[in-house]
Amino acid sequence: MLNIKNLKVGLAEEDKQILNGVDLNIGEGEVHAIMGPNGSGKSTTSYVLAGKDGYNVTAGSAELNGENLLDMDPEERAAAGLFLAFQYPVEIPGVGNMTFLRTAVNAQRKARGEKELTAGEFLKIVREKAKSLKIDAEMLKRPVNVGFSGGEKKRNEILQMAMLEPKMCVLDETDSGLDVDAMKLVAEGVNALRDGKRSFLVITHYQRLLDHIKPDVVHIMANGKIIKTGGPELALEVEQNGYADILAEVA
Ligand SMILES: Nc1ncnc2c1ncn2[C@@H]1O[C@H](COP(=O)(O)OP(=O)(O)OP(=O)(O)O)[C@@H](O)[C@H]1O
Ligand SMILES: [Mg+2]
Repeated sequence: MLNIKNLKVGLAEEDKQILNGVDLNIGEGEVHAIMGPNGSGKSTTSYVLAGKDGYNVTAGSAELNGENLLDMDPEERAAAGLFLAFQYPVEIPGVGNMTFLRTAVNAQRKARGEKELTAGEFLKIVREKAKSLKIDAEMLKRPVNVGFSGGEKKRNEILQMAMLEPKMCVLDETDSGLDVDAMKLVAEGVNALRDGKRSFLVITHYQRLLDHIKPDVVHIMANGKIIKTGGPELALEVEQNGYADILAEVA
């Protein structure tokens, strides 16, 4: 599904290397988690996958189902089935949440060669999914993320993901800032999308999320590289001991 090989990335504006050879292979239907100290390059990895400006790929590759992601525009990456839930969801003043979702969903369906949803069909699906995430009708009418609380933004990201039905979902700290109940809702939202084919990359600082979204594989990122890979027990080890032992092991 997602194959990242020796990915090296620097900033476009200044001479600063951030990713120093990331290797990551996520198979169909798998859930992988990435943990790692602040500033280790987790968000940068997700930004580069999504095609955000400001980064220079200096080596390596990233493919989604054999297609070279790095050659595509952000819209093409989305059409290819990649979805990113941002660590800091962007506000889009002037664009209603519903309008945004419907436009995005229909663009995605078109790209997949499916029929666009009618207004009625769309409304039925969005209401149902919003309800399960406890997003009320009023929030659907407001401009995208404008004035939403931190936790509301995160839930709104999951609603987008549920509507778009991507093949590869990257969630960057979707749990941070969520209250305990909201975290469970978000985890249920993610689990509802697990179907044995769709793959997930979950970036998180806290083992707790992984109690709810059970990962197949856990990676530790430090200094722009994956330095250790293991099972769910690796997340427990980090929770208990922090990163010092793991960093010392590979130093
Ligand atoms: N535009 C930029 N200008 C300067 N430094 C940058 C820029 N973008 C990223 N960096 C640096 O790259 C490093 C990696 O940042 P990144 O956001 O990927 O870390 P992270 O692992 O997601 O951290 P966190 O856990 O705090 O979210 C950091 O040291 C950051 O300061
Ligand atoms: Mg980050």
